[in-house]
Amino acid sequence: MNDSLTTSSSSTINDNPLGVKGFDHIEFIVDDADAWRDYYVNRFGMTLRAYGNASTGLDGRKAYLVGQGRINFLIAQAEGSGPMFDEYKAHFDKHGNGVKDVAFLVEDALAALTEAVKRGATNICEPRIDKENGYISTVIAAYGDTVHSFVQRDDRASVYLPGLILTEESKHETDINFAMIDHVVANVEVMDEWVNFYENIFGFEPTRHFDINTGKSALMSKVMGSTSGYIKMPINEPSSGNSQIQEYLDEYNGPGVQHIALLTKDIVKTIEAMRSTGMDFLDINDSYYDETFKKRMGNIDENIEDLHRNNILADKDEGESGYLLQIFTKCIFERPTVFHEVIQRKGGAKGFGEGNFKALFESIEREQARRGTL
Ligand SMILES: [Fe+2]
Repeated sequence: MNDSLTTSSSSTINDNPLGVKGFDHIEFIVDDADAWRDYYVNRFGMTLRAYGNASTGLDGRKAYLVGQGRINFLIAQAEGSGPMFDEYKAHFDKHGNGVKDVAFLVEDALAALTEAVKRGATNICEPRIDKENGYISTVIAAYGDTVHSFVQRDDRASVYLPGLILTEESKHETDINFAMIDHVVANVEVMDEWVNFYENIFGFEPTRHFDINTGKSALMSKVMGSTSGYIKMPINEPSSGNSQIQEYLDEYNGPGVQHIALLTKDIVKTIEAMRSTGMDFLDINDSYYDETFKKRMGNIDENIEDLHRNNILADKDEGESGYLLQIFTKCIFERPTVFHEVIQRKGGAKGFGEGNFKALFESIEREQARRGTL
């Protein structure tokens, strides 16, 4: 293991040129929207918030909006016919199940589009303006076939997205607790191309840089973030032919979203509850929880036995008083592409679990070896 970590803070004033307020939603295109709706409801403790299809005004697809806290996942599937059907079907045929849209909530969607295009972004469809419902969205191209929507809803907005009917949100008794999206990670071919994209177009800044080499495979990563801290988007590039990032690019047929980390206030309770639904996570060697772990982490609020039993990892930055707890699901779809992370940050911890990369990548490599790609 030879990794280097640098943390930088730039003195550039971030003027948030696109007026981004946070992540709005993540849109997945899948083979079976009903099954994946049930998956997120049952395994992630989400509730169904809205649904749509041709009968509600959604062309060429059906979709479910599921979520918890400020997290919203739009699960869509090509259905029917027409240009939208063709677009959704083509995305699925090329990538398998995956993420189409990492959508941002903005103050002014038309102004965000104009500014983004002025800064070099590509507008890929006409703005969607639904005055009656107080909704406007615009879209730009991002890495691979991924896009970024800019979503604006006014105070009286009566829709989440046009064509979706809000459902009466049923109170769902669960110990699974999620508050918001913590970060969204991209796998790309050339990291710096996309670092420049987020810097020039969004005014984000590189906050961290990792160079990871487990001895078997390697990757590089830079974290792009808004200075407000609400947006964190690590960007990975493979730096060896057998890298897990290269495997993703081959399997997904190009760049795309690798993982979406969900922030929880109680990771032990959340993971125990998720495990009880049959949810599977990456296994970590028992030796991870040895004396080095205790020395590295010092006093933490959690019982180490609880962490060990659940395979929850912990990490802290040098000199930082806070710490983070995290765990990773196995790849959730048929192709080894997308997965989720569950993360809890305590005392203002700002890292991504750099101290866990060795344990983590060894675990991912065990999965890769099982698939015969390492
Ligand atoms: Fe992560």
